Amino acid sequence: MVNLTDLKNTFRGKRVFLSGHTGFKGAWMLQILHLLGAEVKGYALAPEQDGDLYHLIAGDKLCHTSVIADICDKQRLETELVRFEPDFVFHFAAQALVRRGYELPSYTFFVNAQGTAHMLDAIRALQKPCIGVMITTDKVYENPERGLPFKEDDKLGGYDPYSASKAAAEVVIDSYRRSFFNPDTYSVHHKAIAAARAGNVIGGGDYSPDRIIPDIVRAIQSGKPVGLRNPASVRPWQHVLEPLGAYLALAAGMVQNPVGLSTAFNFGPYPSDLLSVEDLTKIFIRCFGEGSYTDMQQANAPHEAKLLLLDSAKAGKMLNWYPKMDAARAIEMTATWYAERNTSASDKCISQIEAYFGN
Ligand SMILES: NC(=O)c1ccc[n+]([C@@H]2O[C@H](COP(=O)([O-])OP(=O)(O)OC[C@H]3O[C@@H](n4cnc5c(N)ncnc54)[C@H](O)[C@@H]3O)[C@@H](O)[C@H]2O)c1
Repeated sequence: MVNLTDLKNTFRGKRVFLSGHTGFKGAWMLQILHLLGAEVKGYALAPEQDGDLYHLIAGDKLCHTSVIADICDKQRLETELVRFEPDFVFHFAAQALVRRGYELPSYTFFVNAQGTAHMLDAIRALQKPCIGVMITTDKVYENPERGLPFKEDDKLGGYDPYSASKAAAEVVIDSYRRSFFNPDTYSVHHKAIAAARAGNVIGGGDYSPDRIIPDIVRAIQSGKPVGLRNPASVRPWQHVLEPLGAYLALAAGMVQNPVGLSTAFNFGPYPSDLLSVEDLTKIFIRCFGEGSYTDMQQANAPHEAKLLLLDSAKAGKMLNWYPKMDAARAIEMTATWYAERNTSASDKCISQIEAYFGN
């Protein structure tokens, strides 16, 4: 299990290219990398709202450089990445919302699959060793909803455009890994590429539309009950620090073992640790101290997977990575973050990061 001291030994003074640094997970990752002493060049679109976490933490000040540009601009991406000469690349940038995927399907495929190819082309153009962690999702698996946890070799697929676009990104990653970054010829190219699949995350500072925690917070702030679209859906809820710690553990492991770890990994909570949307809402409201909810199931709502489970045994065996907190603790940390109004967003994040990783 990684702690701050070990991570500082790996990342201090290292150059990290972080796509999607203006997003929810990216803004948390930026703060961790800054704490570790890494030099971060971010590449993403501008934050969508003034109140986004990236603004609240003054993200520009934590970056060596923040590039506001489109992943679809292949030439710009390649120029920015190659010029920076990164030791590590974390590829977070994506159209990350399931509902927006239904509204903008071809755009979602372009950003998520083609954008991943652009990132891998940029890494190809880099004339130095580099470790790349490509972030996809637990939704990359063909999901018959039988309740069995997915293993990394299970069939990829996706019902909705977001899930399918991320499965397509996985196919792209695997093709580039075999064709250009083959572990068998690592001593020639010195590039190690892994894919990281984690599930729904929760944590302070998420203000995205159509995600459950931001929906609850917005409802509480406006004094209304939150409408639950899928109250019975069971999800493997994780605190945002769990997958971020996993991505860092993976990248740090790849420094020691670039050949053996150039593969795909699941990073999910323990299978016993699942909660329905309704139970999550109840715990959040109790920890926050106020709020209420109503059932808003819609007859013609777009399809969303009801049950998703990951088998993370490979990460345990090869990376010694295990979840550190259960869903109830993750919800409590999240509710506390939003409820605490007298502390800055940065201070709240840093104290949760330090508590999570330990020294
Ligand atoms: N949040 C979750 O529950 C969750 C779960 C599983 C996987 N993921 C994955 O983690 C990653 C980060 O998710 P998030 O929750 O922070 O999403 P987010 O929507 O908060 O942030 C997305 C980031 O990608 C950037 N981006 C989007 N389109 C872009 C484009 N065309 N060009 C450049 N940048 C672009 C945005 O500017 C932003 O910085 C994504 O790859 C997402 O699919 C998220």
